[in-house]
Amino acid sequence: MVDAILGLQWGDEGKGKIVDYFAPQYDIIARFQGGPNAGHTLYVEGKKVVLHQIPSGVFHPHTVNLIGNGVVLDPVTLKRECETVAGFGVDVRKNMFISHRTHLILPTHRALDKASELQKGNDKIGSTLKGIGPAYMDKTGRNGLRVGDLLDKNFTTSYIRLRLKHQRMLDSMGFQEDITPWEEEFFDAIEFLRSLNVVNGEYFINESIVAGKKVLAEGAQGSMLDIDFGTFPFVTSSNTTTSGVCNGLGVAPQKIRDVMGVTKAYCTRVGSGPFPTELHDAVGEELRKLGNEFGATTGRPRRCGWIDLIALKYACMINGVTKVIMTKADVLDKFETLEVCTAYKVDGKESECVPFQMTRHQIEPVLRSFQGWSTDTTEVKKHADLPVKMKEYVDYINKFIGVDVSHISNGPGRDQIVIV
Ligand code: GDP
Ligand code: IMO
Ligand code: MG
Repeated sequence: MVDAILGLQWGDEGKGKIVDYFAPQYDIIARFQGGPNAGHTLYVEGKKVVLHQIPSGVFHPHTVNLIGNGVVLDPVTLKRECETVAGFGVDVRKNMFISHRTHLILPTHRALDKASELQKGNDKIGSTLKGIGPAYMDKTGRNGLRVGDLLDKNFTTSYIRLRLKHQRMLDSMGFQEDITPWEEEFFDAIEFLRSLNVVNGEYFINESIVAGKKVLAEGAQGSMLDIDFGTFPFVTSSNTTTSGVCNGLGVAPQKIRDVMGVTKAYCTRVGSGPFPTELHDAVGEELRKLGNEFGATTGRPRRCGWIDLIALKYACMINGVTKVIMTKADVLDKFETLEVCTAYKVDGKESECVPFQMTRHQIEPVLRSFQGWSTDTTEVKKHADLPVKMKEYVDYINKFIGVDVSHISNGPGRDQIVIV
């Protein structure tokens, strides 16, 4: 049996915290897509830890963590992160496995990401520059190198061949940075990676399911950044939605039970691209300040706005969401008035659908106002103790999107979550 936790917005919904909260109920936590563009924040022993490659179950002693075939893996980030978790007494050689089919991010993928963004100028995606797009392009282009290839004696030859191809591309793009130091750390990290547990991920996960183990698939990014269903081209390069669980781990659709979709009580986006409810005023600034909305991977300020129920309902539809987890509800504690987007005005015409191409249209949100609860909720432990106005806000959202909120997160801490 497999359950999934994934983001319903443009990423950074608080998936890391939620996976960490649910992890004790599962045997295996498996990342199924994305790479070090992800930044999942957890608090362990009161200390903040941001995970990019390692699944968010790593701090639970009885949980096994799998990096699935759908992930793109940067050995340098992985090594650094393994050292961080080792500082908490976690030995990844005991509780982490990597699929042999997982594609590697090479130093030249990072260079290509940078060169591509420079070439796009004002139209840039706002990529995290971690090499994600180029690595997935080499996967679908059938050129990429996989973790299993590290065991092949010809790995270095294959690496040099691909590097040469990349170098020609970089030359044609006028990219001149010296990547020799990146390569030195890459090969150092490759040696480290060779010492970790590499497994046949698809058998590993399916045999575990047959043996009755419970698997939690951990998504990265968010549904609106999905390569097929997001705000293309301002998206990431993988399927961040439920279908990605099947491809990214090798599990069949009928094995998937609950799909837990995570949404903030408002909305943020980092990087370029359409964001209909974005606030460019003092309210947006206040959300950023109170929500501490700065990227966990790049430190960039996140764009902030009200919750977008059109996008949220769409994400629930695409993912088959069975439960919604609402995070950062406490960030709204101080707002006297809240707004939610209930329709888009697309070139002046009202619509309840996410358009095919958001960038070529003038999209204005139709907003409905709610009175805020103006109460500090960060210490609340029981649903009965949540302010009535918050319950009204959540009830309206439940009805609009057609799925119920099952948990409300009211602070970044592990214990700051209320079961509805
Ligand atoms: P992820 O990428 O979806 O895992 O989310 P990030 O870690 O990038 O961003 C979420 C941020 O919100 C992190 O700094 C979390 O510590 C924080 N966070 C998560 N849940 C809550 C919550 O309920 N309230 C508050 N105030 N912060 C939260
Ligand atoms: P988590 O897992 C928020 C955004 C980037 C950029 C676009 C493409 O922490 O929620 P990429 O590096 O994939 O080429 O960037 O996607 N992006 C994220 N935004 N959270 C993330 O991950 C993101 N990963 C990528 O800002 O706009
Ligand atoms: Mg994040």
